[in-house]
Amino acid sequence: MSKGLDASSYDTDKALHTHYLRNYEQYFARLQNREVRLLELGVYKGGSLLLWRDYFPKGLIVGLDLNPIQLEDPSGRIRTYSGKQQDTSLLDRIGAETAPDGFDVIIDDCSHIGELTRISFWHLFDNHLKPGGLYVIEDWSTGYWDSWFDGVSFQPRWVNGFSPGLFRFRSLMARLYRSTLATRVPFAQKFIIGLKRVINGRQFRSHDHGLVGFIKELVDECGMADITRPDLGKPPQRCSKFQDMRISPGQVFITKLHR
Ligand SMILES: C[S@@+](CC[C@H](N)C(=O)[O-])C[C@H]1O[C@@H](n2cnc3c(N)ncnc32)[C@H](O)[C@@H]1O
Repeated sequence: MSKGLDASSYDTDKALHTHYLRNYEQYFARLQNREVRLLELGVYKGGSLLLWRDYFPKGLIVGLDLNPIQLEDPSGRIRTYSGKQQDTSLLDRIGAETAPDGFDVIIDDCSHIGELTRISFWHLFDNHLKPGGLYVIEDWSTGYWDSWFDGVSFQPRWVNGFSPGLFRFRSLMARLYRSTLATRVPFAQKFIIGLKRVINGRQFRSHDHGLVGFIKELVDECGMADITRPDLGKPPQRCSKFQDMRISPGQVFITKLHR
């Protein structure tokens, strides 16, 4: 039987977020008795590293933080590094020294700054996460806070409510775009697309600041097969690098596509 994930006796803020732990358990239970390689970016005093070490009895647990970490670890299954999450040469060195075949799990609980998270995400995801591996980004909603480095408070944009007249106009543009006339007249389709961008621009409220903005970029990666679809999108076609992406309050779970 798998051991539960109880952080109450560890010095980690994960102990405060019990729903985080419940979500982690859903993904981690099947890995618990494997020789898991886990990397956590941002570990503060290392409490979460001890939690992962004790949860994965055969795991190698690796942590990176700006500040050096002092930990008592008689098991010898914890490795720590100090440096910046955005330092891709350091990330390569960590990968080569601790998980040459790739990590099974990477958790980013680090700066929570969108542009830094993006650098380490794509570098680690592409080069150091195993196919089928899991990448977790914590605390993505910092992008909704004025007081956060790159966050701003949520101000729902003014949006057009449903207007039957506008809806009919949209429908007309969609039909026009597909009409023989538009395919024959030079630039007609380009003109309609431009019009659609203006008219449809204020349909939805979206907040694109800080880490929230980066997470929304990742939603576009989920849509890559359709973004690049030869008949409707912009080829060359490629499938999404993600098998799935689950966004939940405070956490995003991304599973890398199995090749
Ligand atoms: C929320 S704390 C980590 C908490 C820890 N994961 C836990 O569960 O207890 C964030 C940590 O990220 C580190 N940090 C912030 N920006 C960083 C960066 N650019 N590179 C590396 N570490 C960073 C901070 O030093 C801090 O210790």
